[in-house]
Amino acid sequence: MVDLRELIQKVSQAKDKSELQILKTQFLGKNSQINQEFKKLGALTEDERKAKATSLNNEKKKITEAINYRLKELEKSEINKKLQNDKVDITLPARERPNGKIHPVSQVIDEISSIFSEIGFSVAEGPDVETEYNNFTALNTPENHPARDMHDTFYLHGNKKILLRTHTSPVQIRAMLDGKPPFKIIVPGRTYRCDSDQTHAPMFHQLEGLHIDKDITMGHLKGCLDYFVKEFFEVKKIQMRFRPSHFPFTEPSAEVDIGYRLENGRIIVGEGDKWLEILGCGMVHPNVLKNAKVDPKKFQGFAFGMGIDRLAMLKYGINDLRSFFEADFRWLNYFGFDPLDVPTSYRGLSR
Ligand code: DAH
Repeated sequence: MVDLRELIQKVSQAKDKSELQILKTQFLGKNSQINQEFKKLGALTEDERKAKATSLNNEKKKITEAINYRLKELEKSEINKKLQNDKVDITLPARERPNGKIHPVSQVIDEISSIFSEIGFSVAEGPDVETEYNNFTALNTPENHPARDMHDTFYLHGNKKILLRTHTSPVQIRAMLDGKPPFKIIVPGRTYRCDSDQTHAPMFHQLEGLHIDKDITMGHLKGCLDYFVKEFFEVKKIQMRFRPSHFPFTEPSAEVDIGYRLENGRIIVGEGDKWLEILGCGMVHPNVLKNAKVDPKKFQGFAFGMGIDRLAMLKYGINDLRSFFEADFRWLNYFGFDPLDVPTSYRGLSR
């Protein structure tokens, strides 16, 4: 006789699935005691056989049930163990986000680049250390021209031929010598002048624009700047005026002012009774085109130059230019931008 209790107890104590499998073979397999008893059934009388078979089947059923029950138990505890190990400790502090910020000047350069790229401008660059020729002479500003004095130039090692560029305009020359018209570029970059107060720093940023093609007029220049200013300040309407001016590299030349008003000491750009100068521009002087190997009889176009820092100050309410360059972490934390928020015109520039 099989000791059913003992078997079931053994099954219920099986440590793992493989031990359970061994017990299963042992208790129900070919050589199991039960199987042997089944084989002996043939020797019994019919009545005896019936009774014995029923009881054997019963035993077999009970053992099978016990095995299946234990199997479920083992599987459950296996899953629980896994869950235990994979457990996320929700009391752990969240992983800190990197806390670097994008400097307002970089942000504004990205914003401006995105605005101009929408209307087909590409970004060009040039070196900070420039030749006197590219910075002045090729831009129709010969030696002894009074415009040179206004630039407070940093000459390098007393060498009059090499300097820190005083504006981004020399990249006009480089870009034109480098390719063939038409040209449609903007040039953001660092510029240098020997000057320092609340609104001037010896190193500052400018953005140059240049569009040369066959039929470019002052009307295109106005349309382009009107579009830019509205996009940049994120307003629908803007008051803008072109004031006649003079730059050696453009003819005619203009300075552009935008309207603003003061509200509780804050500048509100768009409309108002006050004017603020934001950039210089004009039609590229034929001498500049000639110096850049572009035929002024076939091609013409406009150029403009603006102070990036100034635009950033205006847009983001920053009132001391020098704070841009002090690398004060608290300042950057306050005025800086999220590195993951890349500005685009369609998504919003400064949100
Ligand atoms: N380069 C000029 C400056 O630094 C700005 C400027 C004026 C650039 C007129 C231009 C322009 O391209 O057409 O003051």
